[in-house]
Amino acid sequence: MNPGPKFADHDWWRSAVVYQVYPRSFADSNNDGVGDVAGITGKLDYLKGLGVDAIWVSPWYPSPLWDGGYDVSDYRDIHPDFGTLDDADELFEQAHARGLRVLIDLVPNHCSIDHPWFQAALAAGPGSPERELFVFREGRGDGGELPPTNWGASFGGGAWERVIEADGTPGQWFLHMFAPEQPDWNWENPRVLEEFDGILRFWFDRDADGFRVDVADSLIIDQDFPDTPIDPRTGKGTWEKYPGAPCWDRPELAEIQRRWRRVADEYTNSAQGPRIFVSEAYLPFERMVEYVRADRLHTSFNFEFLQSEWYAESFRNVIDKSLAAHRGVGAPATWVLGNHDVIRPVSRYGKSLSGRSFRSGVVTDEVHWLDDMAGLPVDVALGRRRARAAALLMMALPGGCYVYQGEELGLEEVEDLPEESLQDPVWVRSNHMIRGRDGCRVPIPWSGNSAPFGFGTDADPWLPQPNHWGELTAERQDDDPDSMLNLYRAALAERHRNTALGDGEMSWEESEDGILSFTREPGFRCVVNTGDTDHDLGEATVILTSSPLGGSVLPPNTTVWVLPPNTTVWMVS
Ligand code: GLC
Repeated sequence: MNPGPKFADHDWWRSAVVYQVYPRSFADSNNDGVGDVAGITGKLDYLKGLGVDAIWVSPWYPSPLWDGGYDVSDYRDIHPDFGTLDDADELFEQAHARGLRVLIDLVPNHCSIDHPWFQAALAAGPGSPERELFVFREGRGDGGELPPTNWGASFGGGAWERVIEADGTPGQWFLHMFAPEQPDWNWENPRVLEEFDGILRFWFDRDADGFRVDVADSLIIDQDFPDTPIDPRTGKGTWEKYPGAPCWDRPELAEIQRRWRRVADEYTNSAQGPRIFVSEAYLPFERMVEYVRADRLHTSFNFEFLQSEWYAESFRNVIDKSLAAHRGVGAPATWVLGNHDVIRPVSRYGKSLSGRSFRSGVVTDEVHWLDDMAGLPVDVALGRRRARAAALLMMALPGGCYVYQGEELGLEEVEDLPEESLQDPVWVRSNHMIRGRDGCRVPIPWSGNSAPFGFGTDADPWLPQPNHWGELTAERQDDDPDSMLNLYRAALAERHRNTALGDGEMSWEESEDGILSFTREPGFRCVVNTGDTDHDLGEATVILTSSPLGGSVLPPNTTVWVLPPNTTVWMVS
């Protein structure tokens, strides 16, 4: 198969549409109820047909799966439930043959308690070089019975775990910014730096096109280990990322990122072209864009866009701030509506609280939006209509974007999973107060009328699928010209065809409240109606619309792509 000339394009990542695969839930080729690497390979034609440019595969490494694989016990292998290194090689090869790039997940902040180096550190005892690879400290209090700092962990509880030493007595504490099964690496130690250089090279040598960097703003810890202000919600030291916070966005990160970039750049002149990074960093734009300066990482997810409420002014402010910040460093913006950590857009946009307000002059509390929004009733039809409109908005913006598996099928968050099926550590760590992120990780419905809907053959999937997902399968949507799947296909095909889309500039047009209207050159205009009244488009030649128009009327919760007035349409015969 000839991947075509686009594959040689060195700037592909500046406009790329990347499809996120959560391997456990994508496609189960061996019918054991768990997705696998061969399952991904089997769906490459589907992905090519969808029109994406690349895939990003969430962690596929050996792992006890305390945190869905973000607890890695071997960075150079594949989880036996997901397959083998040969399967990974086959995926790279088959994807490349179709002109699709493959990004994988780098988890540098922490590993798994099962990682042999952590096991060696436990065995070796205090003061050993093995313990120096992690963040072990003596406790406070007379007998060291209090944690070294007051820091809370991401999934609830404290950020330190005390170990039992070889003599059977309670001993040192180790840091885990996430679950206790995820010990943090000590990035002050040169062996850790070298180890990760080796991990990058291992996968680049196998032809990975790049890495999504998990919690890219952590890694470095203030070596004074100060306490942080108490978060009244948890009673622990806050996990918030305030300026100067001891565990977030420390200046030393710049040098680590430059080091990774140098490793990636060693491969720039390979036949495959540049290898890239996308950083996961939930930071304000002015900080986040520091990570995508020319000598650091390439791109970073645009989480404020994902977090924005369904409201024109909020979107507009986020888009403006993001583009201005990115322009300042010469990097493309990277838009995202969903991932494996957040409530799916169909459900978010169908709730009374659809996200954070970014309206000017409105100061909102930091919305703990994932927890605050979970459980609010959902109008799924409204949410799906808005999700269609949001997808066309996202794909029209300058830069690249990400599509999380199932978004193209319009899947909603499964908010009523039986409690006994919940696996996210958040559920246990919050004392069963927060159900967590399993609702967006339910296996994909591919075909048929009953579970497992073609995910596997007949094995029960690791999380149960709703019965009504028979209406949302890829197979069912394939033939329906109005389906979400065909909207995505049409939009992505237009993105490839239309030189106005992807990386570049955009200009706002004056518009009334609730409306977003912008143009891109040459000859493209996008209008979004987030309000609740009709909007007259005037004379327009429609390229694509997220919901039917009434003549020149753009109804609420709809996005349309049009040719601007007075555009000459050249007919090519
Ligand atoms: C990132 C991942 C999330 C994981 C966490 C800890 O936020 O996206 O799924 O739980 O990091 O690795």
